[in-house]
Amino acid sequence: MGNIIIVGTQWGDEGKGKIVDCLTEKSNVVARYQGGHNAGHTVVIGDEKFILHLIPSGILHKGKMCIIGNGVVVEPKALIDEIAELEKRGVKVTRDNLRVSKNSHLIMPYHILLDGWKELKKGSKKIGTTGRGIGPCYTTKAERSGIRMLDLFWPEQFKEKLKANISDINCMLEQIPGVEKLDAELIYNDYIAYGKKLEKFVDDTDITINEAIKSGSNCLFEGAQGTLLDVDHGTYPFVTSSSATAGGAMTGLGVGPKCVDEVYGVAKAYTTRVGEGPFPSELSDDTGQLLREKGAEYGATTGRARRCGWLDFVVLRHAVRVNGLTGLVITKLDILDDMEKIKVCVGYKYGNETLRDFPKELPKLEGCTPVYEEVDGWKGQATTGVRSYDKLPQKARDYIALIEKTLDVPVVIISTGQDRDDIIYR
Ligand code: IMP
Repeated sequence: MGNIIIVGTQWGDEGKGKIVDCLTEKSNVVARYQGGHNAGHTVVIGDEKFILHLIPSGILHKGKMCIIGNGVVVEPKALIDEIAELEKRGVKVTRDNLRVSKNSHLIMPYHILLDGWKELKKGSKKIGTTGRGIGPCYTTKAERSGIRMLDLFWPEQFKEKLKANISDINCMLEQIPGVEKLDAELIYNDYIAYGKKLEKFVDDTDITINEAIKSGSNCLFEGAQGTLLDVDHGTYPFVTSSSATAGGAMTGLGVGPKCVDEVYGVAKAYTTRVGEGPFPSELSDDTGQLLREKGAEYGATTGRARRCGWLDFVVLRHAVRVNGLTGLVITKLDILDDMEKIKVCVGYKYGNETLRDFPKELPKLEGCTPVYEEVDGWKGQATTGVRSYDKLPQKARDYIALIEKTLDVPVVIISTGQDRDDIIYR
């Protein structure tokens, strides 16, 4: 199978978790390269539903090595809870199937406070973050005052860094009414205790993964969020703070570009977005509501209702380009089953111009209106649970063909339902 990057092509929630879970069968290593517990990857196996936030969905398979790379920001308590929840449900988590990078940065209590405070200050201009401290953690990483996983095992050094950080943060917190100052000693003790619980998983993951690649293992590099939430290539500033595109896999794991065989972009058969920011093909009508209800479009991490709209080829064209996609994975095709007609956004109208490429300027993007083409739906011929391409209704196959033709990328996998087995490999 080779080494494959799995990346979101829209604003996250494309169903990457399920696809990684399915491809894990033929892989040896599954490695997450960015983001943190802002992500929510859902996998349904029979009657059981697993929502993973930090641990790669490969953990649900026996004998696979799962890696949380250096590019991920780790809230240690969230990781400990996730491991405990998996263990409670019969999934064994040991050093044989989970490793966490020594270099991963830790989300500290002050990151979460700052996330909330910054959003509050922005008022109507807020980003709509998940409130998990992600942005502030990546900020301290870039600013070089971050605490890494390895610091927990160098107590004196950790204490010194933490005290310096807390002293800075407390000066800032003084300005926030009703917020108490942080106690460095308490945080130190909590984090040292977290370190003791996580120590067995901590690893030089760059070495582990490169050795696996060298020995011929197949690796999946699992992205979180999506291209339009990428800090460089997304709808800045309405983005997350990490590199959610394919390039993030290299820096977020410490692997070279030559080891990558395929880059698969996951796209829903329509589009969703959670949080604030531009979304040209958004539907604020009954059709949008229908997609939300039928597609159960509520956040796996925050429970927020997702904004819904038609498939947007301008977005996808951008994703194909900046990720160098070699294959597309279309998920939730079955959610369109009740549609008489389906629209696809083929361009944006901006003044007298029709744009084919995604504009980078926010005011320009906000001034764009979608240009749609309409195609026939396959109403009355359900695709739910269809497991072979030939069994899809002709109109559904036409929809897939339209995607391939427009984007000039083959659709390699189609997901037709929640269950692990509701999938078509081509
Ligand atoms: P943050 O990552 O919590 O800072 O949030 C920044 C933006 O990314 C917000 O619009 C969030 O709703 C969005 N976001 C973060 N993680 C996810 C995700 O896993 N799926 C979808 N949207 C996300």
